[in-house]
Amino acid sequence: MTYAPIGVFDSGLGGLTVLRSIRSTLPIIDYLYLGDNARAPYGTRSFETIFQYTWEAVKWLFDQGCPLVILACNTASAKALRNIQQKMLPKYYPDRKVLGVLRPTTEIIGKMSSNQKIGILATPGTVKSESYPIEISHFYPEIQVFQQACPMWVPLVENGELSGPGTEYFVENSLDALFQQCADIDTLLLACTHYPLLMPVIKQKLSGNIQIIEQGPLVANALKNYLERHQNLEETISKNSQLTCFTTESPESFSEKANLFWGSPLPCEQIHL
Ligand code: DGL
Repeated sequence: MTYAPIGVFDSGLGGLTVLRSIRSTLPIIDYLYLGDNARAPYGTRSFETIFQYTWEAVKWLFDQGCPLVILACNTASAKALRNIQQKMLPKYYPDRKVLGVLRPTTEIIGKMSSNQKIGILATPGTVKSESYPIEISHFYPEIQVFQQACPMWVPLVENGELSGPGTEYFVENSLDALFQQCADIDTLLLACTHYPLLMPVIKQKLSGNIQIIEQGPLVANALKNYLERHQNLEETISKNSQLTCFTTESPESFSEKANLFWGSPLPCEQIHL
């Protein structure tokens, strides 16, 4: 039998917030992280482009031997996952799996709201796809979902602007727009991998009784359950607690910026898709 790491993909560095949670839940597993930093952000790109870029990245991770790839990116999960699972895998890689971040979130989020009013903050691409309202309505038809695109939040985080008057202005703007749609939302989902880094500013702008949900722990828990239910797949995953990072842009810049998302610089190699 051959053993290989789990592949984790994001348009850039944001997926590291998800991988952090996954790795603390499943520490002995080996992970191969790929950030398509050269073509990020994905959030404002078309459906076709996001699908094409995501599929190229998934194929590259499969070529490294990964039996399972996690799309740790909401935009890619919302716009490319269904096509990959339903059309590409059966045709080209019937023995490989690709999972996203939407399902682990939407299957549980309905239980977290007391008044059944949920706010979703995400990239323009994720919002436009309507994936969150559609998926949540499958699990929780009674829940009302309000969405707000936050086009400035990813660039702010990517540039290390996590606080200060400029950041506060843009965070407040998007939160105001969301709460204008519904004033008594009681549960707020950060449906973009970058947004947890803005948590201190988001909390400062909200009243204390609104709960803010990050996806990392939800995705980590769902992956643990999935591997328990898929023992044949689980047995093919290598387990030496190793993390290897790849980027399509400058490895030096990845490593330096990774500090923000990971808490320490991460060594990284460059690849071309
Ligand atoms: N990682 C993406 C997400 O979770 C956001 C970054 C981007 O726009 O590329 O939606």
